[in-house]
Amino acid sequence: MGYYDLKKLENTGEDKTALEKKHVPYIQCPDEVKKGEYFEVKVTFGKEITHPMGKDHYIQYFDLYANYASLARVEFTPDMKAEATLNVKLEESCDLNVYAFCNLHGHWEGRKEIKVVE
Ligand SMILES: [Fe+2]
Repeated sequence: MGYYDLKKLENTGEDKTALEKKHVPYIQCPDEVKKGEYFEVKVTFGKEITHPMGKDHYIQYFDLYANYASLARVEFTPDMKAEATLNVKLEESCDLNVYAFCNLHGHWEGRKEIKVVE
């Protein structure tokens, strides 16, 4: 895999690889929210396995996007747990995309569709 490759979830269920289990950003938030009202978005790494955090191997940061609009960047040090809860409000339905970087295993994408209602 190249340095510039973006890895995403390609397997499901029991076929998930160990790398997918601990690197694919897991986005937890409601499936449907009200326009302009804050809700919580929790991001963890990953879903089934917690990514290790040590000075030789850690999640350095992630970026949260609503479609192509940047919402936030969260940076971690090896002394942090690789998770964050952010308060977000949206104006229209979109995909929440998280792009994360592990210093050893590169770039990973997670996505969750979210519906915004009046
Ligand atoms: Fe990693």
